[in-house]
Amino acid sequence: MLELVDITKSFHEGQPNAYTALKNVSLTLERGKVIALHGPSGSGKTTLLTLIGCLARPTSGRVRLDGQDISSLPERFLTALRRERFGFVFQQFNLIAGMSARDNVMVPAYPTGLPYRMLLDRAEELLAQLNLSHRSGALVQTLSGGEQQRVAIARALINQPDILIADEPTANLDSALAKECLDILGRLNAQGTTVILSSHDPLVLDSPLVQQRVGLRDGQVQEVR
Ligand SMILES: Nc1ncnc2c1ncn2[C@@H]1O[C@H](COP(=O)(O)OP(=O)(O)O)[C@@H](O)[C@H]1O
Ligand SMILES: [Mg+2]
Repeated sequence: MLELVDITKSFHEGQPNAYTALKNVSLTLERGKVIALHGPSGSGKTTLLTLIGCLARPTSGRVRLDGQDISSLPERFLTALRRERFGFVFQQFNLIAGMSARDNVMVPAYPTGLPYRMLLDRAEELLAQLNLSHRSGALVQTLSGGEQQRVAIARALINQPDILIADEPTANLDSALAKECLDILGRLNAQGTTVILSSHDPLVLDSPLVQQRVGLRDGQVQEVR
């Protein structure tokens, strides 16, 4: 359902600091799976996730979602697609300090124009599912790392995406929290969400939850298993 066809991504093209982060990457990622990108730091995992989630465009090559070429869509279509289909959990969580957990969760939903009350209910429901109801009104900077991550996951789910993208979701968590995070991702997947993550955590990569593993090195796909 997600196809990458001969993708190249370069930064600072034509400048002395030009760098090609992905080279001739072709991949098919199937709907409904938990897919893990792995590889050394700098191998292109984050860059690939941003292309998969339409946060950036490839320098060359095609990204197809359910058969539709999305890499050449005008920006406003891409923005809508991003909002409707993808949820993102960033490595550093990127929560907005000074705002409550619930308000952080609601932020990506405002452009949908849905009624505030409905979004509030949905945010509270997500926080409840992630065992965070009691922290819903707390300012995010007062939450623990594990709690902050669950807020980030709830925020990624507010627009009911069918694809959840998580960049090194366990990198800032201890083993117990990492396991909990994996359980949450597994539960979401069981409910039908496709999960595409990057990781170099053996706890994630060796988990039976992961159904497809894509090894990257120096911007190229080394193995898929
Ligand atoms: N915006 C950018 N500008 C310049 N170089 C970048 C940019 N983003 C990533 N890179 C470079 O691309 C390579 C791959 O980065 P990244 O995708 O973040 O790797 P990983 O997530 O596997 O650590 C790195 O060498 C990085 O420095
Ligand atoms: Mg990265």
